[in-house]
Amino acid sequence: MNDVKKRILNIAKALKITATVAKVFVIIMMVVTILQIVAVFSMDTPFFRTFYDGDLNDIESLLGHSEIFSSLYEDPEMGSANPVVRKTVELAITLLSLVVLLGYIRFFQKLISHILEKRQPFSLETAKRMGKGAYGLLLLIVLNPVLGILLFLLMRFFALIFEYGAYLQEKAEETSRIQEEVIVSLAEITESKSEQTGQHIKRVSEYSRIIARQLGLSDEAVETLRLASTMHDLGKLMIPSEILEKPGRLTDEEFAEIKKHPGFGEHLLHNVEGETMTLARQVALEHHERYDGKGYPNGESGEAISLEGRIVAVADVYDALTSRRSYKLAWDPKKAYDEIVRCSGTQFDPRVVQAFVDAYDEIDAARRQYADEEFNAKAA
Ligand SMILES: [Fe+2]
Ligand SMILES: [Fe+2]
Repeated sequence: MNDVKKRILNIAKALKITATVAKVFVIIMMVVTILQIVAVFSMDTPFFRTFYDGDLNDIESLLGHSEIFSSLYEDPEMGSANPVVRKTVELAITLLSLVVLLGYIRFFQKLISHILEKRQPFSLETAKRMGKGAYGLLLLIVLNPVLGILLFLLMRFFALIFEYGAYLQEKAEETSRIQEEVIVSLAEITESKSEQTGQHIKRVSEYSRIIARQLGLSDEAVETLRLASTMHDLGKLMIPSEILEKPGRLTDEEFAEIKKHPGFGEHLLHNVEGETMTLARQVALEHHERYDGKGYPNGESGEAISLEGRIVAVADVYDALTSRRSYKLAWDPKKAYDEIVRCSGTQFDPRVVQAFVDAYDEIDAARRQYADEEFNAKAA
């Protein structure tokens, strides 16, 4: 989805540059036309005549000649109209056409700025408005038939691009909406199956979002991680309930079973395509890896673990520590914070821990906001 959106926004940027170039061109044309009008007038003044005593009809050859206007202003019986009047009318109409053109370019520029600001490119309504507006450009035929028809066709072409863009955008939004709904459902199923009822998934995804933003990831990347991280424990669906729901400590065999959940999660998602799902697969696989390579399931270390995997690892452990489990009480948030900092460079990536520390106020606020009801009841 982001790919399509990025492409559309790139087209909009290119069109914005084109519109700016066209605007500069039209403004230069307007200045030239105004100078020509001034020239025509000054040539008919006594002041000019002190310098120039030739035939005024020569002005026509000096300033150029338009056949349309010659036919409009030349009376077959009276001979040529006053060349100054003829030239002035011709130039005034040119100027008017340029004003119309400038108006259209402004309209176009506003449209594109709106698209780039809202990052919500193209709507059917815009496309329709452009399509209708194109007929106004036919007025330019008076100035130049080729230019008028060319600009009319160009505007109709842009209207079609916008219509197609609106279609693509709608499809992209629909796909991402469906994807998000599926993700939320999967996260809810995981939550109801695992012993981590309450808001573990919501909190881990919020903490991941905050840390990713602190690390300077792009808005799109942050949003993708927020969604993808909700599926980090998806593999727990494959772990027997007796183990997941067992009160008290697990035996070594049971813990070995639990340790399979990252691999199961990766497997469950391995056939699904799309940016969010691909990241979800990676995060599901890597969220129990450790920076020093002592984690599971693959014992990957350092940068061999994706940045997103390292982020979710910190988010997941911080939430596990500050939540109550069947075998332990919830830690005091300050103690959990110290533990995360203590494990910087061993269990966790120091860069990620630094971002966690820098954004801790926000993380703490999210912890309170999405606290389990049971926790709230205890706190009250
Ligand atoms: Fe996990
Ligand atoms: Fe988890």
